[in-house]
Amino acid sequence: MNIIIYGSQYGTAKQYSKELAGQLNYELRSYDEVKDLDAYDNIIYIGSLYAGGILGMKKTFRKIRDIKNKNFIIATVGLGDPSEKSSTEAIRRGLKRQLPENIFKRAHIFHLRGGVDYSRMSFVHKTMMGMLYKKVVSMPEEKRSADAKAMIETYNKKVSYVDLSKLAPIVSTAGSFSA
Ligand SMILES: Cc1cc2nc3c(=O)[nH]c(=O)nc-3n(C[C@H](O)[C@H](O)[C@H](O)COP(=O)(O)O)c2cc1C
Repeated sequence: MNIIIYGSQYGTAKQYSKELAGQLNYELRSYDEVKDLDAYDNIIYIGSLYAGGILGMKKTFRKIRDIKNKNFIIATVGLGDPSEKSSTEAIRRGLKRQLPENIFKRAHIFHLRGGVDYSRMSFVHKTMMGMLYKKVVSMPEEKRSADAKAMIETYNKKVSYVDLSKLAPIVSTAGSFSA
């Protein structure tokens, strides 16, 4: 059995997940609907990044008792540009901390780009972004990371970098798993 689980607050990770579930013909569930994962052979987790953490991921992978004979794909969805090495290296360090070692070693990892819409953001998230913005704009330009630049460029705006064609490598990796 095959499943895609998503952790999404505002819908971009869900958008990728729905498209992928359609292409692969996998079951689709939000992380907070998932109870038992032991029956699944192929598990894809698509989660959005919040302050370096992947929404719902830790909680979800804790539900797996036996990883033997299972395949894992983990895709993160964030504002940072996945073609920037500094951005993806930071995400991977976070993943390593948040996952059991045996799953981190086995998982196929991908990075997708989401978006932001400040008009739909919760008060708490807006406040967090406001604090982060103040911090990064006060830095000298040459000291700003790629993620910080992306944050400044999109601050208080509605921007979507969602590109469903970026799912192709995930489709092909999942295609190599036995059904
Ligand atoms: C409070 C907050 C923290 C965020 N932290 C990160 C981050 O650490 N790295 C990143 O790439 N994007 C970060 N983002 C951007 C989100 O990951 C991005 O908006 C994503 O598309 C949200 O996915 P969702 O629509 O599925 O919830 C953050 C956004 C908010 C509001």
